[in-house]
Amino acid sequence: MKDILTAPFMVEMVRTTTNMYAHGWDERNGGNVSLLLDEREVGESLDAGRVIRTLPTGFAAPALDGKYFLVTGTGKYFKNVQYAPEVNLGIVRLTKGGEEAELLWGFEDGGRFTSEFPAHMMSHVARLAVDAENKVVMHCHPANLLAMTYVHSLDERAFTRTLWQMCTECIVVFPDGVNVLPWMLCGTNEIGEATAEKMKTARLVVWSQHGIYGAGRDLDETFGLIETAEKAAEIYMKIAQLPRLNTITDEQLHLLEARFGVTGREGYLD
Ligand code: 13P
Ligand code: ZN
Repeated sequence: MKDILTAPFMVEMVRTTTNMYAHGWDERNGGNVSLLLDEREVGESLDAGRVIRTLPTGFAAPALDGKYFLVTGTGKYFKNVQYAPEVNLGIVRLTKGGEEAELLWGFEDGGRFTSEFPAHMMSHVARLAVDAENKVVMHCHPANLLAMTYVHSLDERAFTRTLWQMCTECIVVFPDGVNVLPWMLCGTNEIGEATAEKMKTARLVVWSQHGIYGAGRDLDETFGLIETAEKAAEIYMKIAQLPRLNTITDEQLHLLEARFGVTGREGYLD
Protein backbone atom coordinates (compact mmCIF):
# COMPACT_ATOMS: atom_id res chain seq x y z
CA MET A 1 0.00 0.00 0.00
CA LYS A 2 1.35 3.45 -0.93
CA ASP A 3 1.59 6.28 1.62
CA ILE A 4 -1.61 8.27 1.19
CA LEU A 5 0.09 11.49 2.31
CA THR A 6 2.30 11.38 -0.80
CA ALA A 7 -0.51 10.48 -3.23
CA PRO A 8 -0.63 13.19 -5.94
CA PHE A 9 -4.27 14.07 -5.13
CA MET A 10 -3.38 14.58 -1.44
CA VAL A 11 -0.26 16.64 -2.18
CA GLU A 12 -2.26 18.85 -4.58
CA MET A 13 -5.08 19.31 -2.08
CA VAL A 14 -2.69 20.32 0.70
CA ARG A 15 -0.84 22.74 -1.59
CA THR A 16 -4.06 24.25 -2.92
CA THR A 17 -5.72 24.84 0.47
CA THR A 18 -2.45 26.31 1.76
CA ASN A 19 -2.27 28.62 -1.25
CA MET A 20 -5.93 29.64 -0.85
CA TYR A 21 -5.19 30.61 2.76
CA ALA A 22 -2.11 32.54 1.63
CA HIS A 23 -4.28 34.48 -0.82
CA GLY A 24 -6.52 35.60 2.04
CA TRP A 25 -9.52 33.81 0.63
CA ASP A 26 -10.08 31.55 3.64
CA GLU A 27 -10.06 33.32 6.97
CA ARG A 28 -10.58 31.09 10.02
CA ASN A 29 -12.59 28.08 8.76
CA GLY A 30 -13.82 29.96 5.68
CA GLY A 31 -14.04 27.99 2.46
CA ASN A 32 -14.22 24.33 1.51
CA VAL A 33 -12.99 22.13 -1.32
CA SER A 34 -14.09 18.76 -2.68
CA LEU A 35 -12.16 16.66 -5.18
CA LEU A 36 -13.65 13.67 -7.00
CA LEU A 37 -11.18 10.80 -6.77
CA ASP A 38 -10.51 7.92 -9.05
CA GLU A 39 -11.46 4.62 -7.37
CA ARG A 40 -8.27 2.96 -8.62
CA GLU A 41 -6.12 5.79 -7.29
CA VAL A 42 -7.80 5.56 -3.88
CA GLY A 43 -7.29 1.79 -3.81
CA GLU A 44 -3.53 2.23 -4.19
CA SER A 45 -3.23 3.93 -0.81
CA LEU A 46 -6.12 2.72 1.31
CA ASP A 47 -8.32 -0.30 1.94
CA ALA A 48 -11.67 0.83 0.54
CA GLY A 49 -13.36 -2.06 2.36
CA ARG A 50 -12.51 -0.56 5.76
CA VAL A 51 -15.21 1.97 6.70
CA ILE A 52 -14.30 4.04 9.78
CA ARG A 53 -17.67 5.74 10.30
CA THR A 54 -20.87 6.33 8.34
CA LEU A 55 -22.20 9.87 8.12
CA PRO A 56 -25.68 10.88 6.93
CA THR A 57 -25.64 13.59 4.25
CA GLY A 58 -29.22 14.86 4.52
CA PHE A 59 -29.83 14.80 0.77
CA ALA A 60 -29.95 12.39 -2.16
CA ALA A 61 -27.49 12.39 -5.05
CA PRO A 62 -28.00 9.09 -6.92
CA ALA A 63 -25.64 10.19 -9.70
CA LEU A 64 -22.77 10.13 -7.19
CA ASP A 65 -23.51 6.74 -5.64
CA GLY A 66 -20.24 4.87 -5.11
CA LYS A 67 -18.08 7.92 -5.87
CA TYR A 68 -15.08 8.91 -3.74
CA PHE A 69 -14.29 12.45 -2.62
CA LEU A 70 -11.43 14.09 -0.76
CA VAL A 71 -13.10 16.93 1.13
CA THR A 72 -12.27 19.58 3.73
CA GLY A 73 -13.76 19.27 7.20
CA THR A 74 -16.33 21.56 8.77
CA GLY A 75 -14.85 24.13 11.14
CA LYS A 76 -11.33 23.36 9.95
CA TYR A 77 -8.82 26.10 9.13
CA PHE A 78 -7.14 25.94 5.71
CA LYS A 79 -4.10 27.40 7.48
CA ASN A 80 -3.73 24.09 9.34
CA VAL A 81 -4.33 21.58 6.54
CA GLN A 82 -0.62 21.27 5.72
CA TYR A 83 0.25 20.41 9.36
CA ALA A 84 -2.45 17.78 9.90
CA PRO A 85 -4.14 16.63 6.68
CA GLU A 86 -5.57 13.56 8.47
CA VAL A 87 -7.54 15.82 10.84
CA ASN A 88 -8.59 18.59 8.48
CA LEU A 89 -9.41 16.45 5.43
CA GLY A 90 -11.39 13.28 4.86
CA ILE A 91 -11.99 10.73 2.13
CA VAL A 92 -15.60 9.60 1.83
CA ARG A 93 -17.50 7.27 -0.46
CA LEU A 94 -21.14 8.13 -1.11
CA THR A 95 -23.62 5.27 -0.73
CA LYS A 96 -27.38 4.76 -0.47
CA GLY A 97 -28.03 7.08 -3.40
CA GLY A 98 -25.85 9.77 -1.82
CA GLU A 99 -27.76 9.78 1.48
CA GLU A 100 -24.81 8.35 3.37
CA ALA A 101 -21.09 8.98 3.25
CA GLU A 102 -18.68 6.29 4.39
CA LEU A 103 -15.55 7.74 5.94
CA LEU A 104 -12.52 5.82 4.69
CA TRP A 105 -9.73 8.12 5.89
CA GLY A 106 -9.24 11.37 7.82
CA PHE A 107 -11.35 13.55 10.16
CA GLU A 108 -9.31 11.85 12.87
CA ASP A 109 -10.58 14.09 15.66
CA GLY A 110 -14.13 12.83 15.09
CA GLY A 111 -14.95 15.66 12.66
CA ARG A 112 -17.06 15.54 9.54
CA PHE A 113 -17.17 17.02 6.06
CA THR A 114 -17.88 20.69 5.38
CA SER A 115 -21.29 22.13 6.24
CA GLU A 116 -21.47 23.05 2.55
CA PHE A 117 -21.44 19.39 1.50
CA PRO A 118 -24.91 19.76 -0.14
CA ALA A 119 -23.70 22.62 -2.38
CA HIS A 120 -20.54 20.68 -3.23
CA MET A 121 -22.18 17.36 -4.08
CA MET A 122 -25.11 18.92 -5.93
CA SER A 123 -22.67 21.09 -7.91
CA HIS A 124 -20.60 18.01 -8.81
CA VAL A 125 -23.76 16.42 -10.20
CA ALA A 126 -24.59 19.55 -12.21
CA ARG A 127 -21.08 20.01 -13.62
CA LEU A 128 -20.55 16.30 -14.42
CA ALA A 129 -23.71 16.47 -16.55
CA VAL A 130 -22.08 19.27 -18.57
CA ASP A 131 -18.47 18.03 -18.45
CA ALA A 132 -17.67 14.40 -17.61
CA GLU A 133 -14.11 15.50 -16.69
CA ASN A 134 -15.17 17.84 -13.89
CA LYS A 135 -13.53 16.89 -10.60
CA VAL A 136 -13.37 19.93 -8.36
CA VAL A 137 -15.80 22.18 -6.51
CA MET A 138 -14.14 25.00 -4.56
CA HIS A 139 -15.67 27.60 -2.26
CA CYS A 140 -13.93 30.58 -0.65
CA HIS A 141 -14.39 34.19 0.48
CA PRO A 142 -12.21 36.44 -1.74
CA ALA A 143 -12.50 40.04 -0.53
CA ASN A 144 -12.93 41.90 -3.82
CA LEU A 145 -15.60 39.64 -5.32
CA LEU A 146 -17.43 39.86 -2.02
CA ALA A 147 -17.04 43.66 -1.92
CA MET A 148 -18.39 43.89 -5.45
CA THR A 149 -21.67 42.26 -4.39
CA TYR A 150 -22.33 45.29 -2.13
CA VAL A 151 -21.87 47.97 -4.77
CA HIS A 152 -22.50 46.39 -8.19
CA SER A 153 -25.75 45.24 -9.76
CA LEU A 154 -26.26 41.50 -9.17
CA ASP A 155 -27.62 41.07 -12.70
CA GLU A 156 -25.53 38.20 -14.10
CA ARG A 157 -24.97 39.76 -17.51
CA ALA A 158 -23.95 43.09 -16.02
CA PHE A 159 -21.72 41.43 -13.37
CA THR A 160 -20.01 39.24 -15.98
CA ARG A 161 -19.52 42.10 -18.45
CA THR A 162 -17.90 44.25 -15.76
CA LEU A 163 -15.43 41.46 -14.90
CA TRP A 164 -14.66 40.81 -18.59
CA GLN A 165 -13.88 44.52 -18.98
CA MET A 166 -11.42 44.59 -16.07
CA CYS A 167 -8.63 42.35 -17.46
CA THR A 168 -8.05 41.40 -21.07
CA GLU A 169 -7.89 37.66 -20.44
CA CYS A 170 -11.05 37.29 -18.36
CA ILE A 171 -13.26 36.38 -21.30
CA VAL A 172 -10.71 33.76 -22.32
CA VAL A 173 -10.61 32.19 -18.82
CA PHE A 174 -14.33 32.31 -18.10
CA PRO A 175 -16.26 32.76 -21.36
CA ASP A 176 -19.27 31.14 -19.65
CA GLY A 177 -19.36 34.13 -17.29
CA VAL A 178 -20.31 34.35 -13.65
CA ASN A 179 -23.70 33.42 -12.25
CA VAL A 180 -24.94 35.18 -9.13
CA LEU A 181 -27.15 34.07 -6.24
CA PRO A 182 -28.75 36.60 -3.90
CA TRP A 183 -27.90 36.30 -0.20
CA MET A 184 -29.15 32.96 1.08
CA LEU A 185 -28.63 31.00 4.29
CA CYS A 186 -25.46 28.96 3.86
CA GLY A 187 -24.97 25.30 4.73
CA THR A 188 -28.47 24.30 3.63
CA ASN A 189 -29.85 22.00 0.96
CA GLU A 190 -31.68 25.03 -0.47
CA ILE A 191 -28.50 26.97 -1.21
CA GLY A 192 -27.02 23.70 -2.50
CA GLU A 193 -29.86 23.24 -4.96
CA ALA A 194 -29.72 26.90 -6.05
CA THR A 195 -25.94 26.71 -6.55
CA ALA A 196 -26.21 23.51 -8.58
CA GLU A 197 -28.87 25.09 -10.79
CA LYS A 198 -26.51 28.02 -11.48
CA MET A 199 -23.63 25.58 -12.12
CA LYS A 200 -25.49 24.21 -15.14
CA THR A 201 -24.58 27.32 -17.14
CA ALA A 202 -21.33 28.63 -15.59
CA ARG A 203 -18.33 27.33 -13.63
CA LEU A 204 -18.36 30.36 -11.33
CA VAL A 205 -21.24 31.13 -8.98
CA VAL A 206 -21.11 34.15 -6.69
CA TRP A 207 -22.86 33.95 -3.34
CA SER A 208 -23.75 37.58 -2.65
CA GLN A 209 -22.26 39.02 0.55
CA HIS A 210 -20.61 35.62 1.18
CA GLY A 211 -18.15 34.34 -1.42
CA ILE A 212 -17.78 32.35 -4.60
CA TYR A 213 -17.97 28.79 -5.92
CA GLY A 214 -15.79 27.54 -8.75
CA ALA A 215 -15.77 24.21 -10.58
CA GLY A 216 -13.19 22.64 -12.85
CA ARG A 217 -11.25 19.62 -14.03
CA ASP A 218 -8.43 19.93 -11.52
CA LEU A 219 -7.43 21.97 -8.50
CA ASP A 220 -5.09 24.25 -10.46
CA GLU A 221 -7.68 25.09 -13.08
CA THR A 222 -10.38 25.81 -10.50
CA PHE A 223 -8.00 27.89 -8.38
CA GLY A 224 -7.00 29.83 -11.50
CA LEU A 225 -10.62 30.47 -12.40
CA ILE A 226 -11.37 32.04 -9.02
CA GLU A 227 -8.00 33.84 -9.04
CA THR A 228 -8.79 35.47 -12.39
CA ALA A 229 -12.29 36.57 -11.38
CA GLU A 230 -10.96 37.89 -8.07
CA LYS A 231 -8.22 39.88 -9.85
CA ALA A 232 -10.86 41.43 -12.11
CA ALA A 233 -13.00 42.29 -9.08
CA GLU A 234 -9.94 43.88 -7.46
CA ILE A 235 -9.42 46.14 -10.47
CA TYR A 236 -13.12 47.03 -10.38
CA MET A 237 -12.98 47.95 -6.70
CA LYS A 238 -9.92 50.15 -7.41
CA ILE A 239 -11.58 52.07 -10.25
CA ALA A 240 -15.29 51.99 -9.40
CA GLN A 241 -15.21 55.38 -7.73
CA LEU A 242 -13.04 57.06 -10.40
CA PRO A 243 -14.13 58.54 -13.71
CA ARG A 244 -13.75 55.80 -16.34
CA LEU A 245 -11.83 57.18 -19.33
CA ASN A 246 -11.13 53.88 -21.09
CA THR A 247 -12.49 50.37 -21.21
CA ILE A 248 -12.27 47.10 -23.14
CA THR A 249 -14.98 47.44 -25.76
CA ASP A 250 -17.32 44.72 -26.99
CA GLU A 251 -15.53 44.93 -30.33
CA GLN A 252 -12.25 44.12 -28.58
CA LEU A 253 -13.89 41.30 -26.62
CA HIS A 254 -15.03 39.84 -29.97
CA LEU A 255 -11.40 40.06 -31.19
CA LEU A 256 -10.33 38.05 -28.11
CA GLU A 257 -13.00 35.43 -28.82
CA ALA A 258 -11.65 34.98 -32.34
CA ARG A 259 -7.97 35.00 -31.31
CA PHE A 260 -8.38 32.47 -28.47
CA GLY A 261 -11.14 30.34 -29.98
CA VAL A 262 -13.67 30.95 -27.21
CA THR A 263 -17.26 32.10 -27.34
CA GLY A 264 -18.59 34.44 -24.68
CA ARG A 265 -21.91 33.55 -23.06
CA GLU A 266 -24.70 34.00 -25.61
CA GLY A 267 -26.27 37.46 -25.52
CA TYR A 268 -23.63 38.88 -23.16
CA LEU A 269 -21.78 40.90 -25.84
CA ASP A 270 -23.32 43.49 -28.11
P1 13P B 1 -17.21 24.84 6.85
O1 13P B 1 -16.19 25.10 7.93
O2 13P B 1 -18.37 24.02 7.34
O3 13P B 1 -16.57 24.25 5.62
O4 13P B 1 -17.85 26.23 6.42
C1 13P B 1 -17.07 27.28 5.94
C2 13P B 1 -17.80 28.15 4.99
O5 13P B 1 -17.19 28.84 4.19
C3 13P B 1 -19.29 28.15 5.01
O6 13P B 1 -19.80 28.75 3.87
ZN1 ZN C 1 -18.42 30.22 3.00
